[in-house]
Amino acid sequence: MDALIIEGGRRLSGHIAIEGAKNSALPACVAALLTDEPILLRRVPQLRDVSTILYTLGALGKRVVRNETSVVISGDGPLSGEANPYSVRKMRASFLVLGPLVARLGRARVPLPGGCAIGARPVDLHLKGLEALGARIEEHDGVVDVVADRLRGARIELAFPSVGATEHLAMTATLAEGVTEIVNAAIEPEVLDLVDLLRRMGAEIDVEGRTLRVAASRLGAAEHTLIPDRMEAGTMLLAAAISRGEATADDVVPEDLRPLSDALRRVGVDVCEDGRSVTVSARGTLRGAAVETAPHPGFPTDLHPPMAALLTLAAGTSRITETVFESRFTYVDPLRTMGAQISVDGRAAAISGVERLQARMVEAPDIRAGAALVLAALAADGATTLRGLEHIDRGYERLTEKLQLLGAHIERQNA
Ligand code: EPZ
Repeated sequence: MDALIIEGGRRLSGHIAIEGAKNSALPACVAALLTDEPILLRRVPQLRDVSTILYTLGALGKRVVRNETSVVISGDGPLSGEANPYSVRKMRASFLVLGPLVARLGRARVPLPGGCAIGARPVDLHLKGLEALGARIEEHDGVVDVVADRLRGARIELAFPSVGATEHLAMTATLAEGVTEIVNAAIEPEVLDLVDLLRRMGAEIDVEGRTLRVAASRLGAAEHTLIPDRMEAGTMLLAAAISRGEATADDVVPEDLRPLSDALRRVGVDVCEDGRSVTVSARGTLRGAAVETAPHPGFPTDLHPPMAALLTLAAGTSRITETVFESRFTYVDPLRTMGAQISVDGRAAAISGVERLQARMVEAPDIRAGAALVLAALAADGATTLRGLEHIDRGYERLTEKLQLLGAHIERQNA
């Protein structure tokens, strides 16, 4: 089982190449189910989750041709209505194939999803939305069996602006008769990136505040370049900050990183935006701050764990309140073993800044908690051994090489 060996104490500096967004790539691949014509996606990250969704699409009958950072998904042959149980249980985003398959075939069977260890993460909002569109749903032994003679547009109000439910229902609604209104929709950059792709495929979609209006459309071939991964960019900029260095993330969308940039400035980190680059510099004293996660344009929950790692070294007290997932605190115990002073009370973590963290042997429990442990190790005294790389590999492409390019002493070993 691989492990990262990270020698702390090096100031990072330099430029970071940012890949296409994982959380855009996954729904964008699923959108190819909506048409028999070819979909070309560019700036597709080479990540395990992307391989999983492409495997799922291949098993459903799509033809997938992947090279470097682009993917062509095509195939006018028959589609299967049964999603591969292994890949859906392995990765939650695979569940999004359900609506498009029902819209195309009239029937689909998909297992209920698995994914990260960050809470129950039900799919009730997905299923209620599909029912509103006219689908009939039965669940047996953890598999949902969905039938719909034809899908009709409806007004769907989401109890929570769920990213996955918004993407799932927007895609499905493009093949429903009439107009569908999704109210209280998620408007994360990755959701709007999917809307951009659907429009290029021929969909008529209006976005007004948190309301998406989707008209029945005939969808066809399209080419689309995914937006940059703001979670990768944010994590790498936080790595530079925790090492007290200076680094620039290139070819990003500074506006999408604004919630992090604003929080970093409050902590005392200099942030400079220049065109499509964002540079952070953390030479001064870090001071504690309060951060609250929220659906976009709030502070992204995926950057909560890496931000917490930085705050463990900020003078005074900090507080991070998590409003999106009920258990985003999987990073707390391993960080405590490294000397962080964190206590969790309900949905908030209270952090008292410490002078130094100590290198330890730790294990990543999920993608973003794993990122937090990498960041803590970059600032810790000594050499940290980090296992659980199968989680980190799901969300970060060539993380070791990218950190080495910034001057980190980090090696991946088969330990
Ligand atoms: C997406 O997950 C992202 N994944 C997550 O990133 C991200 O953390 C999350 O959105 C929030 O921004 C992808 O895009 C592939 P949600 P998703 O539906 O769609 C509750 C990463 O590390 N909920 O917005 O699963 C749910 O339990 C991953 O890249 C329901 O109650 O998130 C959670 O508390 C982790 N019922 C909240 O909504 C539902 O039907 C947000 O979930 C759906 C969701």
